[in-house]
Amino acid sequence: MPQPITSLEGEVYYPPQEVIAQAHVPDWDGLQAEADADYLGFWEARARELEWQAPWRMVMDDSRAPFYKWFLGARTNIVHNALDRHVATWRRNKLALIWEGEPGDQRSLSYHALHREVGQFAQVLKSMGAERGDRITIYMGRIPEIIVAMLACAKIGAVHSVVYGGFSVEALHGRIEDSQSKLLITADGGWLNGKIVRLKDIADEALRRCASVEHVIVVRRTGHEVRMEPGRDFWYDDLLQLPLSRPGNDRPQTEILDAEEPLYILYTSGTTGKPKAIVHTHAGYQVGTYATLKYVFDLREEDRWWCAADPGWVTGHSYIVYGPLLNGATSFMYEGAPTYPYPDRWWRMIEKYGITILYTAPTAIRGLMRFGDAWPARHDLSSLRLLGTVGEPINPEAWKWYHRAIGKGRCPIMDTWWQTETGMFMITPVPSAPLKPGSATKPFFGQQAEVVGEDGQVVPDGEEGNLVLKRPWPAMLRTIYGDDDRYVEQYWSKYPGRYLTGDSAKRDRDGYFWIIGRVDDVIKVSGYRLGTAEIESALVSHASVAEAAVIGLPDELKGHAIHAFCILRAGYSPSIQLQEELKAHVAHEIGPIARPAEIQFTDALPKTRSGKIMRRVLKARALGMSEGDTSTLEE
Ligand code: WT7
Repeated sequence: MPQPITSLEGEVYYPPQEVIAQAHVPDWDGLQAEADADYLGFWEARARELEWQAPWRMVMDDSRAPFYKWFLGARTNIVHNALDRHVATWRRNKLALIWEGEPGDQRSLSYHALHREVGQFAQVLKSMGAERGDRITIYMGRIPEIIVAMLACAKIGAVHSVVYGGFSVEALHGRIEDSQSKLLITADGGWLNGKIVRLKDIADEALRRCASVEHVIVVRRTGHEVRMEPGRDFWYDDLLQLPLSRPGNDRPQTEILDAEEPLYILYTSGTTGKPKAIVHTHAGYQVGTYATLKYVFDLREEDRWWCAADPGWVTGHSYIVYGPLLNGATSFMYEGAPTYPYPDRWWRMIEKYGITILYTAPTAIRGLMRFGDAWPARHDLSSLRLLGTVGEPINPEAWKWYHRAIGKGRCPIMDTWWQTETGMFMITPVPSAPLKPGSATKPFFGQQAEVVGEDGQVVPDGEEGNLVLKRPWPAMLRTIYGDDDRYVEQYWSKYPGRYLTGDSAKRDRDGYFWIIGRVDDVIKVSGYRLGTAEIESALVSHASVAEAAVIGLPDELKGHAIHAFCILRAGYSPSIQLQEELKAHVAHEIGPIARPAEIQFTDALPKTRSGKIMRRVLKARALGMSEGDTSTLEE
């Protein structure tokens, strides 16, 4: 039984009794203590809830730390647990996915239908020469085919590399080139705000810059005229019509793999240089995403789960695609903008489809909050029983609005802290936990987190420091694709034996963690993770810019907004027109999300004697704050 908690400080929201009574984990503290005492046992028990083609010899192997391995010796494929195992049961006829397009069109797929289409498309990929271990780039909007494409890759043991459909030419090109993909799966376009995002045109332009791609598969979504290169480009629906039923080909088999074989790579922005590809594997990732979703969102057979992220980000990988399917759940996915055609689109769909759990980001909550209470009030949101947030710290004001106007005070909010690298929720409550608005609460079962100073010592509660994780976990990244050294250097060298998150945080006296934000040169804009280096490199790729420096400044809606400082080349002079041109240039190269809010022309940038730009100084100046220690600043 849950113990009454009396010691919590600050503003605390206790879970309603009926939530505790029905939760998978009614006793948060109890399971924490249990998992802490037998960490590997906890994870082994979770793994036993899935099916395996051969058992593991070892739950976790740390003999080559920090290259940890999980469920060593096991044979599996995540698609077996996400699809194949369900179609052998009554879930065959359960809905796996309910989808609504922005124009209002709908599609739903049962586990049977999804399994079938994935099998067919896997056959297509094989017939085009895709093999186990090959990287395949997927560049699409939020349509069911992106899920089919990801699962089809996994089914044949190929490694998917999804590039968010909001990215543009150079971002796509860089990711295709780094991964050396031979196949690109895309769509003619996608719907956003009543307009077509011209995905195929962007893909064509990216492909002109690189040579590795041999074939492009194009899903017909918007139906507008696109250029198809003969011999290279094929329509998805044409390929699915092909008779691929040569002997042995009619029943596509799920490739059974070793536990540690790669499932996907996903690019994310780091401290320096180009985005790096995070590697996730089949066995540990399936156990981690399955168990975290089940416990944190208390997933039940009858739920209608809506993770409103994009499949192009890790949130979508783990909690639109894999986690829900591993749990045999019914997911909802929506293609377009939350405010199209009116700001009640989300609330309308929650009512229409009877959504029971909504998981989104603070920036979306703040964006919808702006339109006031009248929009959600117009709809019956009584189907909701839980809410969730992810991506950046949620300000208490937005938390309270979400809790009151959407959850009607009944629905606990799961504030889940995690990263592309972690693959799964790491610091998070469960529904039976007492909540404090703005805190992601405590580490997931068995995990231990610390806030440490530069010297590696744990700082006193209430003080800010670097957030580290102490125990390896099943869905952890295995390396950076093609760069083991950088993996060790970036995550494991500052505090050996502990994983460096790149975030600063505080811990309070109740052991609750409060995330402050990134300590490195990563900027979170509307929850999207962008590197200053990427944006600077896009700026200097414009003929007029000699040098650029980018910082993130606080923004009420987006969390942070991008501010760029540019030194112009000789022959160019500052103008409003050039500012606009540079903003458009960044949007064209990286994507609309990276568009700077402000461009400032300057003659010099603050640098260290070794030539590193001191973004900290730029930030302090922009905010009118003290510049701190500038002793290393070049004259
Ligand atoms: C960074 C990771 C993992 C899903 C989306 C983000 C920030 C994430 C929270 C939260 C405060 C959060 C951190 C983290 N972040 N969730 N609940 N509270 N900050 O994945 O793009 O890899 O970004 O997002 O700064 O390091 P990502």
